[in-house]
Amino acid sequence: MVKIIEDKKFSELTTFKVGGPIKYYAEAKSEEDVKEVADFAKEKNLPIFVIGGGSDILVSDKLFDGVVVHYTGDSVSLEESGEFSLITSEAGKNWDDLVEFAVAKNLGGIECLSGIPGTVGAAPIQNIGAYGQELKDTFVSLRAFEIEKGKFRTFYPEDCDFGYRESIFKNPEYWQKFIITSVSLNLKKNADPQVVYESLINYMKENNVHDVNLRNVRDAVLAVRKSKFEDPKEVGNAGSFFKNPVIEKVQAEKLIKEYPGISCRETKDGRYKCFAGWFIEKAGWKGKTHKNAGVSPRHALVLINPEGKATATEIVELSEKVAKDVEAKFGVTLTPEVQFINF
Ligand code: EPU
Repeated sequence: MVKIIEDKKFSELTTFKVGGPIKYYAEAKSEEDVKEVADFAKEKNLPIFVIGGGSDILVSDKLFDGVVVHYTGDSVSLEESGEFSLITSEAGKNWDDLVEFAVAKNLGGIECLSGIPGTVGAAPIQNIGAYGQELKDTFVSLRAFEIEKGKFRTFYPEDCDFGYRESIFKNPEYWQKFIITSVSLNLKKNADPQVVYESLINYMKENNVHDVNLRNVRDAVLAVRKSKFEDPKEVGNAGSFFKNPVIEKVQAEKLIKEYPGISCRETKDGRYKCFAGWFIEKAGWKGKTHKNAGVSPRHALVLINPEGKATATEIVELSEKVAKDVEAKFGVTLTPEVQFINF
């Protein structure tokens, strides 16, 4: 029997530490439990919201009149296949623990994704990425419960529509229609680590790391992240609040001419990906606050809940002010990377 809890709040379940009360909350540790919770929601005619680590969402302050499900099963299995190992993890496993497990076994492909908060089940939703790696690079398949049909289904890469912080699961037709229960990745045995990202290369040089192996890369990523990003255990936040905008060549060339120090890079399709953090900083928002919400003084792309007192409304207001100023100053539109829930 799954325990249904009636006094949970989103503020206890999200790394932003904001969000209103929840009508029903349940933890499912097995596929049987998932079915049971789905039946409960169906009986009550209530929507389901699936929560992982709560690290990429901003939830409104009002009551969520539905059932929040958190999958807690976290077992991992390995299957050898030539030069690769197929690693299958249940959705409830902490993502970084899975990276540590892989690195300890000298399996490469996700080492640059060290230190990303959240669960394994949430990783495909936004195709997590950092320091030149993305989940989709090693993704093989996932298993998910289709709530409406009451059946399990397997998704392969071609079903997932992965993009920059995107997947089919963010598409309104799929959003909150599936409960992911496990994810399989193909990791390379004794792999040469990938170090392509400038700040990572610099860190390694500065710290005289010559023997580049998976363990060193993981350590370097953790150290760089620690120095730059806010630790959600200390300060409420949900990582990058906005996506890095991709703009047309004409606009990029104009901006580069006007602001020689700008951070923009040409992409494969001839457009330019610019760093949102740079725009926000140059618009004067780094370290600034609005009511109880703030822009991180360490990394301008991260909005924070500095004292733990911010409401969702205050964070939304702040994000709108930041985006408005960036638009006015640079003509660049920022779009949120975090998911807005129950607004
Ligand atoms: N920058 C500034 N001011 C700042 C912060 C950044 O000017 O306050 C500029 C700098 O020029 C810097 C550049 O932005 O060199 C890039 O910054 P960083 O390397 O920190 O990367 P990012 O583009 O801000 C992205 C991801 C992060 C990921 C890092 C590392 C997005 C939206 N964010 O951040 O992912 O960890 O690269 O790969 O793509 C997340 O998705 O929540 C997240 C944290």
